[in-house]
Amino acid sequence: MRATIIGVGSAVPDKVVTNNDLAKTVDTNDEWIRTRTGIQERRVSDNTTATSDLAILAAEKALKKSGLAIERLDLIIVGTTSPDCLFPSVACILQKKLGASKAAAFDVSAACSGFNYALTVASQFIENGFYKNVLVVGADTLTKYLDWHDRGTCILFGDGAGAVVLTASPNGSGILANWLKAEGHMGDKLIMPGGGSRDPEEKNGRFITMDGKEVFKFAVRVLEESIREVLKKAKLEISDINLLIPHQANVRIINHVTKKMGLPKEKVYVNLHKYGNTSAASIPLALDEALADGKIKNGDIIVLSGFGAGLTCGANVIKWEDNNA
Ligand code: COA
Repeated sequence: MRATIIGVGSAVPDKVVTNNDLAKTVDTNDEWIRTRTGIQERRVSDNTTATSDLAILAAEKALKKSGLAIERLDLIIVGTTSPDCLFPSVACILQKKLGASKAAAFDVSAACSGFNYALTVASQFIENGFYKNVLVVGADTLTKYLDWHDRGTCILFGDGAGAVVLTASPNGSGILANWLKAEGHMGDKLIMPGGGSRDPEEKNGRFITMDGKEVFKFAVRVLEESIREVLKKAKLEISDINLLIPHQANVRIINHVTKKMGLPKEKVYVNLHKYGNTSAASIPLALDEALADGKIKNGDIIVLSGFGAGLTCGANVIKWEDNNA
């Protein structure tokens, strides 16, 4: 049995914040942001919108496309590092809102690699026969944790959610291989130090801080490593890839790695110019748009590769099955 995707959905907040909007409040400009990151605009949620509010929209779309009756859902996993509250988990909030009374539910904390981690966990449950139908969501609202005066971070992130419904398939397609890694010794390079049990009074503030250069170097290294390692596990070559969906952090990271690996531009999906870095949402949001754009067809080999705080990274190889929505 393999885990195959039978429904995909995504959601972003309505509010668009352009580079020029940011330039009004912080010392930056459109030209700098475009050339250093590829980002043109991002979506920002308002104060009344929590991560679960975007996650539920993405989940409902994915479930509708899958045609799966909600009572048949066995498990909900949400990759997020910006939950509505420390507990209950976003997954439990979704379980209640969806009325998925039979489903177990938990969150996975792996920042921008959260979707790769959650998808890997979900596929294990399906492959070993423990569960049959699993909802996997990547959702984050990191703009709530930005210092809007720090031009090194506030230009990068946006909010969003993406979801897939997985089911057990005997057809030989679906998730062929997963690969995960963590480099905890570099955890301080991208960190939200405030508000946790180490700092309950939020003396360190509640803002993301980042060593951009170090994270950039890490990203370039592990994007390549994750693609090579996961392909090895699937016994496939770079030339077998029909579409790479990398974490949408910075177009320079993506271009540098894919050029080095000999992957042509038409085999690499990029939508970060519209959304910035939406953390755990970025890969399922891009997958949903790639499908809508007609970039994925039956039998295609799709590689998803993510990297982020932790530091973490992970990748998944999917052989696409055409009952997929
Ligand atoms: N607008 C204008 N100038 C800016 C700026 C901004 N938003 N941010 C930084 N600068 C300035 C710096 O102050 C510096 O000026 P100086 O030379 O006078 O000191 C100059 O631009 C170069 O800064 P630097 O930090 O070297 O830029 P960079 O090329 O490394 O780009 C990032 C910065 C953040 C875009 C880049 O490091 C990056 O993308 N890192 C990875 C981040 C990431 O993807 N994080 C999430 C991973 S999941």
